[in-house]
Amino acid sequence: MDIKIYPDPILKQECKEVSNIDSSFVRNIDNMIKTMKSADGIGLAAPQVGISERFFVCVDFSNDSKEDSLVLINPVIVKAEGRIESKEGCLSIPGFYDYVFRYEYIQINALDLDGNEIIYNPEGIQSVVFQHEYDHLDGILFPERMSKIKKDILMKKIDKEFR
Ligand code: NI
Repeated sequence: MDIKIYPDPILKQECKEVSNIDSSFVRNIDNMIKTMKSADGIGLAAPQVGISERFFVCVDFSNDSKEDSLVLINPVIVKAEGRIESKEGCLSIPGFYDYVFRYEYIQINALDLDGNEIIYNPEGIQSVVFQHEYDHLDGILFPERMSKIKKDILMKKIDKEFR
């Protein structure tokens, strides 16, 4: 799969709910995981591969090997507290990294590939990755989570690079 690069308009769209987890959907997930791994990413959201639907894949950080991936379908953040700074980049804005503000703890409910609801209470990098990927489903890229002044400076550089 090709990764959509800023300023591709699909990256700014709000995605629609997944209505059907069928075999072609599962195939897309497999391809997304392969695409994420070959790009050395730790998360990849559907709009980044041209699908404007609410799901994402990411590394399972609870497993020491980091080989396993998680799939979150129609995720909803139901609790959020604390604040941390995290240095982030994005496969859709290659080459740019900066500090952004995130919640420290969240609870996020999502469906898995069998359509079962899973409740996650991630901490640390898993929490940050969930929030970064979740934002993609609302058309939000990581610079939006910076202070306005820092965001404006970064976006100027990004616009210069990609426009
Ligand atoms: Ni991203």
